[in-house]
Amino acid sequence: MHPDTVQKLRCPYCRTALSMAGAVIRSGDIVTGNVRCESRHHVFPIVFGRPILMHPGTPTQWLPPINEAQGLVIPESLGASLQRAMTRQQHRIAALPSPPRTITAKAVGVFRGKTVLAKARYRLSGRWFRHRDRTNYTRWVAVPTKSTPALHEFYRQVVHARPRIILDLASGGGGGINAVYRNIGSIERCYATERDINCLWTLQYKFATLRSIASAEAVGRDVHRLPFGDGSFDTLTCYMSFGELTHISVVLSEAHRVLRRTGALICVNHRQLFRTDHFNQTAVQAVADRDLRRFAKKVDVYNDYRDFETSVRSAGFRIGRSTPIVDSGKEYIVHALVK
Ligand SMILES: C[S@@+](CC[C@H](N)C(=O)[O-])C[C@H]1O[C@@H](n2cnc3c(N)ncnc32)[C@H](O)[C@@H]1O
Ligand SMILES: [Zn+2]
Repeated sequence: MHPDTVQKLRCPYCRTALSMAGAVIRSGDIVTGNVRCESRHHVFPIVFGRPILMHPGTPTQWLPPINEAQGLVIPESLGASLQRAMTRQQHRIAALPSPPRTITAKAVGVFRGKTVLAKARYRLSGRWFRHRDRTNYTRWVAVPTKSTPALHEFYRQVVHARPRIILDLASGGGGGINAVYRNIGSIERCYATERDINCLWTLQYKFATLRSIASAEAVGRDVHRLPFGDGSFDTLTCYMSFGELTHISVVLSEAHRVLRRTGALICVNHRQLFRTDHFNQTAVQAVADRDLRRFAKKVDVYNDYRDFETSVRSAGFRIGRSTPIVDSGKEYIVHALVK
């Protein structure tokens, strides 16, 4: 982590500034240490250079949002979780966890467990990428104009926003943000947020190998509370992730908060999500549209682009542009949302 990044970050729980303690700096980068917030209640670790601004116990395993939104810890495909949701009579929305009162230096030791460190080392060494030719990503993101139509349109719209300070939400393996960061010279600082901590070293490795100036930071964080001050970014991006998030109206208001006035959030989503199972590609048809919409509204997860546009407007955005894309029979929508 670049030492300047400490000034940019805020405590996600009490929003105060952070300060370093016990930093080990190598080649100008903070590789390990802790940061503590001004209220002194919350401590977060820096592990192999990545700030992990989360409390121990934040879910990091993949759960279908349909289940997670209802507080069900049942890992299964989107299709299976949709069918389960439609046969249940009672749907309740699980509350987001309230901010922890304290996080101690001892408690964050879980983020430095043996398995975590081994995974970090493996990814940062580049061996993970060479295995099974994961280096494929370099071709994919190097020339977005020759990739998929959805990524191409996403890229075009981000270029149009002329980003200088950019934040990507729920970055996963970083397909979207790397296409942008690698190719748009106007970007001075780039931040990526993801709660699956193994992804953080994947992201950082890609940032470092795809663009020579290391001005990007992968930050461990759940996107329901962003670790940045108000108006910190001119551009936000979110590539194919809203469909996997719960409490999307909360995510949208956080996005709105950290964006500067007239800044834009560029995102790509399926036009209609719930009927498509990401994993086996089978569409779940045995559900009435009306039931689906009612359910999605109730638990605040992504249903289709029209409901999404309603949530976007309620969060305070104006829809600058919406571009439908069809690729191999699948329908996507690219939105430029303006504050
Ligand atoms: C479709 S994948 C991301 C794809 C990625 N944007 C890309 O460009 O390649 C969705 C990601 O959202 C992450 N995610 C789900 N809920 C999240 C949350 N509340 N906060 C942060 N990340 C979350 C998952 O861990 C997963 O990596
Ligand atoms: Zn705090």
